[in-house]
Order: sequence, then C-alpha cells, then structure tokens
Amino acid sequence: MELNKEKITLIADCEVTDKSKTAGGAVVRTSKFCADISECDFEGSCFVQTNLCATFKCSDMSGDYFEEVDLSGAGFERSDVSGAEFNEVNLSGAAIIDSDMSGIEISGCKLDGMTIDGFNVRELIEFYKKNHKENFDMKKNVRKAVIAGNWKMNKTRPEAKALLEELKGKVSDPGCEVIACVPFTNLETAIEATKGTPIKVGAQNCHFEKSGAFTGEISADMLVEMGVEYVVLGHSERRQYFGETDETVNKRTRAALAAGLKPIVCVGELLWERECNITEEVIARQIKLDFYAVSAEELKKCIIAYEPVWAIGTGKTATADQAEEVCAFIRATLAKLYGADAAEAVTIQYGGSMNAGNAEELLSKVNVDGGLIGGASLKAADFNTIIEAATKG
Ligand code: PGA
Repeated sequence: MELNKEKITLIADCEVTDKSKTAGGAVVRTSKFCADISECDFEGSCFVQTNLCATFKCSDMSGDYFEEVDLSGAGFERSDVSGAEFNEVNLSGAAIIDSDMSGIEISGCKLDGMTIDGFNVRELIEFYKKNHKENFDMKKNVRKAVIAGNWKMNKTRPEAKALLEELKGKVSDPGCEVIACVPFTNLETAIEATKGTPIKVGAQNCHFEKSGAFTGEISADMLVEMGVEYVVLGHSERRQYFGETDETVNKRTRAALAAGLKPIVCVGELLWERECNITEEVIARQIKLDFYAVSAEELKKCIIAYEPVWAIGTGKTATADQAEEVCAFIRATLAKLYGADAAEAVTIQYGGSMNAGNAEELLSKVNVDGGLIGGASLKAADFNTIIEAATKG
C-alpha cells in the first residue's frame, strides 16, 4: 500500500481512548494509548513509528497500515483486522483472539511468541508448512520440481537398461519431473526403456554447430532426432577437464534452445572463490555470460543447476542455507536481467553430493526447485528417495 500523504491527518501525542475514531487518517508517534481500548474506529488508518502496546477490543482496524510499529505484547480481541498490512512491525508476544484476519499482509515483521487464538504462530507456520505444502509457497509451486540424474561416464547399455528398469518399478506417478541424463551411447537404450513412463531422457552435452568437422562431438539436432528432451550444459567437469568456457556454454545453450532441447545449465564457484568471498560475482558472471542473447521466453525453457564445484563428487554438500542463498541470488540476478516473472518461472536445482539423506532438507528451501544428482542417481533406491523428497519439498 502506498501512503497517501494528502489524506493523512497527523495526530501526535494524543490520547486514544474508548470509541476513538481515526478512520482514514494516521496516528503518528501517539504515545498515550490506554491499556484496553474498546470499540474504536481506526478503519483505513496508518500507524507509523508508533508504540501500540495496548489491547484493542471490538475495534475496527480493517485495511490499516502499520509500519515500524511496536505491537509487541499488544492484543486484538474480537476486532476486525481484515486487509491490514504490517510492514516491519514487532509483533512478538502479540495475541490475536477471535478477530478477523482475512487478507492480512505481513512483511519483515518479528513474530516470535505471537499467538492467534492461543496458537503459537511459529508452530502454526511449521504445522501448515508440513501439512499444506501445496499452498504454503505459491511461488515455489508455480515452478516444477525437477530431479535429474547425471550418470556421467557410467553404465554400459545392459547396465543402463537394468538401472532404468529398476527405477521404473519405483517411479510410477512422481510429483516432480524426473530425468535421466545418460552417456551418449545409452541414449537409445534409455529412450526405449522409459517409453510410456514419466522418466525423461537427457544427454550430457551437445555441440553448438549443426554439423561439420568436429570430431567426437554430437549436435543438438542429432539429439532431438533421437527423442532426447534435455541436455546438461556447462557442467564443471566439462569446464575443468575439457576446456569449456562461458562463451562455449553460451553457444551450446543457444544451439540447444534453437533445436528444441531444454538445457540444464550448470553454474557454480570453486572452493577458493568461495573462500575469497566472491561466490556472488562468479555466479552473476556465469549467468550473464551463459545466457547472453537468450530471450526471456527461451530462459523459461531452461533449468539452472547451482553446483558448487567443491561439493561435486566430494561428499561435501552445501548446507541447505548455503544452497538457498545462492539459488535465491541466481533468481535475483535473473530478475534484474529478465524481470520478476521470468525469474520466478525458472527451475533452479542444487547439485553436489545430494543424496537420500540430505535431499529433503535441501529441497525444502524456497529457491531450491530440484536437484542434479551424480553418484546417488546410480542407485535406483537412493534416486527414488530423492524424487520422493522433491515431491514433499
Ligand atoms: P554428485 O554430482 O552428486 O556425485 O556430487 C553432481 C553433479 O556433478 O551433477
């Protein structure tokens, strides 16, 4: 809500008692509130930088705006607080009883120890998070959770078939998208084995030219022609061992998109970059370069995998908070480049020693929409546990 300064009546240092009326105005730095105030009409008022440690009974506070207000220890009893907005308000210890709170908005507030009809708000939030995940975070729910296995250079064709058969038996109706990114030589086997199942198939790289003298390379069109849907690009192992740069990752991303593939673009900092405190610079640079000349519409078809290099294959997982911090930073960077809508639509995965034991915590984070899993994707039971964790998360 924007403060309409024209409409504000400044009431300073006044006494607010029963049946006071400030509807449509503002109360600023009013210090003398009675301990119990009844039947007041504050509808549509603005309370700014005020200490309101009083109990409001049977009062109309609908549509009120509270900013930098100390409501710690305050009470609302049988009052109408519907549509009120609380911004940077201290509500710790406040109690709301039998009051209409429909449509309230709370941002940047302290809520410790606040109760609603006797329930502790923190506990309520935890309970709601656990039992009504589908509603809790709408932003997360607009995005698809995607769990992708990165098999790397593992599995012969018969081994690939056996692993997928086992996985198929476990994954019948997953609540997230499931992808197996297999070596080139297993693509045909994987496509065949996963026909009619929810498991999608991805490759682990593609070249940026359509065809030509590029010995050992595979083009995006070749993958599409086989029925491949996804492709991992810019994996740190490609960057580290095969000379991939942000420039070639960008070219491959654009070629993959042009061919109709959905790229899973990997970014992530080295250990010493994290130690030098430049993680955000590194990630921002990779995002800007890897997605250069990629449109907002194309971006929505991409998945970004945040894979801190120090966590890949090392057994050292980023903590859920570290993963969330960087995934949120990636989203903020995308928002600056493409606008909030596109940024909110992009699935951002975490990758790096994600396993059956730590997946649930990592995937519970708002900006961690899925996982790119190496080692643990080679065991059907472990991979399935991660898929189940994504469905919960
Ligand atoms: P990891 O690999 O799960 O074995 O650490 C992740 C990846 O490289 O994508």
